[in-house]
Amino acid sequence: MTTTEPEVETGVTINVDGVDVVANKGELLIDAAERHGVYIPRFCYHPRMKPVGMCRMCLVEVDTGRGPGLQPSCMLTVSDGMTVVTESEVTKKAQDGVLEFLLINHPLDCPVCDKGGECPLQDQTMAFGPGESRFVEEKRHFQKPIPISDIVYLDRERCILCDRCTRFAKEVAGDPLIHFQARGNETQVNTFPEEPFSSYFSGNTVQICPVGALTAKPYRFKARPWDLTETPSTATTDSVGSRITVQSSRNEVLRYLGVDSDAVNWGWLSDKERFSFEALNSDARITGPLLRGDDLGNPTDDGDQLVAASWPLALRKAAEALDGVAPERIAVFGGARMSNESQYAWAKLAKSVLGTDNVDAQMGDGLSAELVLGLPRATIADACAPGGTVLVIGVDPKETHGSLFLRLRHAAEHDKATIVEVSPTATGLTQYAAHSVRTGPAQLAETVAALLAGTGDDAASAALAGDITVVYGPGTLSADRSVIEKAIASIAEAKPNATFLPCLHRGNIMGALDMGLAPGLLPGRNPLGSTPAGWDSAPTGHGMDTEAMLRRAAAGGIDVAILLGCDPLTDFPDAKLAEQAFNKVEHLIAVDCLLNFTSTGADIVFPAAASATEVDGTFTNIEGRISSVSRKVTPPGTARPDWMIAAELAAQLGTDLGFIDLDELWAELNAASALHADVSIAGIVDAGTDAVLLAGSSVSAPSASGISVAEDDGGAGLSLVVTRKMYDEGTMLTFCPSLNALAAGATAAMNPADIDSANITIGGDVTLGNDVGSITLPVVANDGVAPGCVEVEFNQPNASVAQLLDVGRIVTTVRVENAS
Ligand code: SF4
Ligand code: SF4
Ligand code: FES
Repeated sequence: MTTTEPEVETGVTINVDGVDVVANKGELLIDAAERHGVYIPRFCYHPRMKPVGMCRMCLVEVDTGRGPGLQPSCMLTVSDGMTVVTESEVTKKAQDGVLEFLLINHPLDCPVCDKGGECPLQDQTMAFGPGESRFVEEKRHFQKPIPISDIVYLDRERCILCDRCTRFAKEVAGDPLIHFQARGNETQVNTFPEEPFSSYFSGNTVQICPVGALTAKPYRFKARPWDLTETPSTATTDSVGSRITVQSSRNEVLRYLGVDSDAVNWGWLSDKERFSFEALNSDARITGPLLRGDDLGNPTDDGDQLVAASWPLALRKAAEALDGVAPERIAVFGGARMSNESQYAWAKLAKSVLGTDNVDAQMGDGLSAELVLGLPRATIADACAPGGTVLVIGVDPKETHGSLFLRLRHAAEHDKATIVEVSPTATGLTQYAAHSVRTGPAQLAETVAALLAGTGDDAASAALAGDITVVYGPGTLSADRSVIEKAIASIAEAKPNATFLPCLHRGNIMGALDMGLAPGLLPGRNPLGSTPAGWDSAPTGHGMDTEAMLRRAAAGGIDVAILLGCDPLTDFPDAKLAEQAFNKVEHLIAVDCLLNFTSTGADIVFPAAASATEVDGTFTNIEGRISSVSRKVTPPGTARPDWMIAAELAAQLGTDLGFIDLDELWAELNAASALHADVSIAGIVDAGTDAVLLAGSSVSAPSASGISVAEDDGGAGLSLVVTRKMYDEGTMLTFCPSLNALAAGATAAMNPADIDSANITIGGDVTLGNDVGSITLPVVANDGVAPGCVEVEFNQPNASVAQLLDVGRIVTTVRVENAS
């Protein structure tokens, strides 16, 4: 379990195979030897988990002054003068013996085993094991394989009982759902009856299993390691920016593996990060431009279908739609799916060529870009510092930023970090938080103010007295974002030394803000008011955000809307407003990989290459860490990178965006953005797994007093708290066969006291209603929900809570009654 670098205050000299080397004080022998080029074989040891000494494969001869003896090097910390022999006859005999025992019952599955070719048991048997088996008896047999979750299969015969998967589940994920069962020859890993290994992080066990006992459904029997080629990249499913290796065979992405980035994800991935690439292999990918219309010369077209069209025709149609339209009547939505380079190109096209500042990558479910970019930024390491204090507000990282959750959980469980959480409902972090303060959405700002003033929860206030890091998100979708913005701004004022880690929704959302895909911003975290180098002009007036653009569109004030890989009809909290808006827009142009609810209604669709696997470029995470994404496979059909589409559309509009490749684009970006002045793709790649951290901003966060929150209009009933789950009906998950059935469905979760006082029947359905709409859901009692609130999950298959939301409200309230 590597938490921090071992203490280095005094080196410890040890002798490994006759060579004196300096190890770090407190370092495990297995690690010290490896750092000095001596690899000691191992199965159970994993550098991110506590050693357990299960397999004995790492036995070496160690002499600490009392004579040589065999010791497991994963359990032994170095000490001065230690003499270690890794290749003595005694050591070799021990390793040989361990392998012989392991192979007694191990099946001869290698030709059909997914691990074949990358199997430590194969490799170490070749390198350290016996040449032949003395065992002639029948091996043990189990049913092969058994599913232990929706995604993971277990071949018990192949298991060497190393305890890695079980330790991961308990120690890292906090989901102790797989265990050793039975004894002796029958010992096996398994789940409890009727309790599947339903963890958001189950795929990590497959990656760290040292044999082929655990396999993942998306990869089983798909390829052999020698068929695969790979490239480093960044997971783009959420904004943590986990480092990954993308592996493909015959131009199809087959597997993501987590890469151990010390700064970011420590090698772990959420299953959503790991498996959602399947959507990009879908037959539903858009492979060429699509046009709707009756002038395409297609006799079978009734004029109302999207039909395939050539690039020149689609570009010409898009240019015609935009030609002569006043900038304030153009609205550009989205962009968080794209690479930084594509975001820059689209920001330039929208703001310099089309002249509109009506550009927003957030779907009305985020936070003011000025606030996010203006606050002093924390790193993940800051938030997870041993012994530190972290205030979590407005986000449930377990549901939305999985690998960050694992880091925060580790900090609390193993590194004595203190988590203080302020939330209307229990979250995935609640059980690890030292203090979990419940408050309704309408009371958020006053609860935070009381905590910081020491007049609220005493223990939580005391914990927040020193330096803190704030991990924050946009809060519930059913409250106006000014509520949480004011709370966060007031924290910044009360705690001048605090640093902030923004957990915004959607992959490269931080890149989008850095590149200016937000109203009022230019590339490089700069406010309007200048013209970036390489641009002919830039807007001077602050444009509209998504909510304002939709309101304007619904009122007939938008002629052309451009969707950059986004789905406002699904994602914007107020479904009715979004629907009214897109019904009124005259021309809808979409740039995307897959059609979604909104882009299905577009007139012109351009096929985009996927940023994690089909384009070269970069990604910026929540810390401002900029890492590479890589083209591993060619995009389907004639799909191309978004930045090229922007450049071609600009050309069609009679303008040259000024770059024809990424080198030229970066040369311009270096000049246009002081933030990126010293950055290059090559430099980012050279920086290795931890990539390059950007720092600095010319944007000022608004003061708390400058953020006005209207009086709570306090409708009757309970405050609605709309939360997100990792699995929902988002576009990527919908097209991902392994994950698309995992959205659990929405419930109405209420505090038991509210259930009692409203005479709600547990186990039945309730109707939630207000003057916007009504929905019916199963009710559950949950004392993690603040009194006076009802929690409903967003974008689930059984009900659309967006039907109840009106973004004009400060906090949406609902009446709850037994469904008739
Ligand atoms: Fe062969 Fe390794 Fe699979 Fe065992 S786990 S069958 S040794 S490839
Ligand atoms: Fe180890 Fe794999 Fe067995 Fe789990 S399934 S105990 S990781 S060998
Ligand atoms: Fe040391 Fe398993 S690696 S006992």
